[in-house]
This record gives sequence, C-alpha cells and structure tokens, in this order.
Amino acid sequence: SDTEKGPYPFYMLKEINEQPTVMRRLAQTYLDEKGQPQIAPELLAALKQADRLYILAAGTSYHAGLVAKSMFEKLAQLPTEVSLASEFGYNTPLLAKKPFFLFLSQSGETADSRQVLVKVKQWGYPSLTMTNVPGSTLSREATYTLLLKAGPEIAVASTKAYTAQIALQAILAKALGETRQLVTAQKFDIRKQLGLVANGMQTLIDEHHRFDQLAKTYLGTTSNAFYIGRGYDYPVSLEAALKLKEISYVQAEGFAGAELKHGTISLIEKGTPVIAIITDKRVASHTRSNVQEVRARGAHVLTIAMHAVAQQSDQVVLADVNPLLSALLSVVPAQLLAYYTSLNRGYDVDKPRNLAKAVTVE
Ligand code: G6P
Repeated sequence: SDTEKGPYPFYMLKEINEQPTVMRRLAQTYLDEKGQPQIAPELLAALKQADRLYILAAGTSYHAGLVAKSMFEKLAQLPTEVSLASEFGYNTPLLAKKPFFLFLSQSGETADSRQVLVKVKQWGYPSLTMTNVPGSTLSREATYTLLLKAGPEIAVASTKAYTAQIALQAILAKALGETRQLVTAQKFDIRKQLGLVANGMQTLIDEHHRFDQLAKTYLGTTSNAFYIGRGYDYPVSLEAALKLKEISYVQAEGFAGAELKHGTISLIEKGTPVIAIITDKRVASHTRSNVQEVRARGAHVLTIAMHAVAQQSDQVVLADVNPLLSALLSVVPAQLLAYYTSLNRGYDVDKPRNLAKAVTVE
C-alpha cells in the first residue's frame, strides 16, 4: 500500500522512485485530453486580478517556490515574490495593491506558514494552499486549495512533494497565462513536457547504483560540500545542499556560481567536493568557467548537466526538457547522492536527528 515500504530499505528511496508516477498523475488530474489545464475558474479569476503573487513556505517547500517564480513571471507575467514564511510574518514587506498569497506546504501544518495565513485572512486578501494533505489546517483556512496528489510522504527529507509542487505550479502558471492569452503560455506544452520529465526521471532512477558509486567517490568521507548553479540552477543548488545536510550531516551549501569569486572560493581546498548544476543555457558557459576556477584550486568536481561536454571529471547528463522545468530533473541526482551518502554512513535515512516531518511551533 501507499504507506508501506515494500522492497525498499527506506521510505526516501521509495518516494524518490515514485516521482515519475507523481508527474504523470498530476498531468492526468489537472490536464484535459488536449493538455489544457483544468483549474477551478474562481481560482484563476482571483489570480488574474492580482498584481503580485506572494509565495510563502518553509524548508524544501520554500525552495519549490523559488523555482516557480520564473514560471509565474514568464508564463503568466505575474510579478512574484518568494519568502520564508517565518520571516515574512514579522517583517512584512510593503505589499502590492492586489496581492495574492500562495502557501506551499507538503503537510499543510507548518506553524510558520500558518501565522502568515492568519494575517492574510485578517487583511482580507485571497489565498491558495498547495498541499499534499487534504483537510490539513492550511488547506482548510485558505480561500482555495490544490492537492499535490503525491501520496503520503513519510521520509522526513522531502522529495516527491518538492517535485510535485514545482510541476503543479507550472500547470497553474500555464493556466493563468492561457487566461491572459499569452503566447509563451500557449506554446508551453505542459503535457508533453511532464511526459519528458517523467521519462527523464525514470532514466536517472534506473541508474541508481551509479549514484551510490558517485556518492562514495565524491562525498564518501567529506565533512563539507558545495553545490553551485546559476539562473534556473541556483534554487536547485539550495535544495540539493539541503538534502545533503538534512540526512547525511555533511555541511553543504548551495551557491550562485558567480558569487564564488565574491567570497566562497576561499573555502575551496584540495579535495573539496563541488557539484555543479548546469542546465540553464543562458549561463552554462559561465558556470563551466566557475568549475575551472574551483578545479584549479583542487576541488573535486562532479557536474549535473543538460548537455555532455568533453571534460576530465564525472558528469551526470539529464534529458532535454523545457528550461523552466529543468529543476524537476536536476534535483533527482542530488536526492540520490544525499540518500546514498546517508546510507553509506550508516544513518537512519528516514529519521534524521533533530528533524521532524512537520513543525507545528513557530
Ligand atoms: C519541516 C521538514 C522539512 C519541510 C518543512 C516545511 O522542517 O523537516 O522537510 O520542508 O518542514 O514543511 P511543509 O510541510 O510546510 O512543506
């Protein structure tokens, strides 16, 4: 059943492996036979009136919001601000005239997010909760709800809920862009793209033993590591680093590649693992230069890229998908690297120390 591990040693591996199915399920649930989004008209009407979207979340869900900002801005021309709920509530920015609030929460129970929703309701603004748990607190209290349909996520480290949040936000952005008759939205074939994503994820999952090996080679005994990425790859580097921190206790940081030269590069020593995510064509050559810079200082570099290049170190090559959705693929190697690093160090992958699946205190 949904809540049993079956043949898997840990829920996290089961949940990573379910991601292609979740992508297909979202397409089946939220798209019609022609690939057009099926989203409640009242929700779209409310969003259409908004002059700014505020995305609020915590942890991994916050990272899913960072990825989605580009989708709402490019596909729907809706200016979007993404904030940590814990910061926003007590240090609220100057709001737009017609704000719309999107709460991302796997559990629907995160207190840091709920305290913002309580204020949003007092202010009288419309809200949407995107959650995996029907009937959860944030779902009941928001004006609208969209369900992630990812099935129960039991491992503390979130995987399939993150990719479901990105895919469902892409569907919502496409739907909103269509109501505004925007050509970029009309041309964005979300059904085809989600199919390509599901297949690309499956290819990575089928290679899972390779990630066990790469985890041993690059992250075997290290106490620190860096993920770098620029453009669309930057928010993924944050999530990739978080996965590693949460379950393997490796001190990992995600950095915007260009910022290396503004400070971070002083941390690179002989043998420091640096994992570069390179899917964004606009900045790929720049990130590759950053790779050369850290390699020249002794870094042990692994690349996760959309296109293979001749180079000396290992590379993981991803399937070619629309750049707005590349996070859905580039995160999977990072999830698997974190999983195997934790497993190989003998930790309880599903129940990392000090962490809870849902945090109901501020
Ligand atoms: C906890 C979990 C994280 C999660 C965060 C937000 O801290 O350990 O994995 O990302 O809460 O949870 P939510 O259910 O609101 O997405």
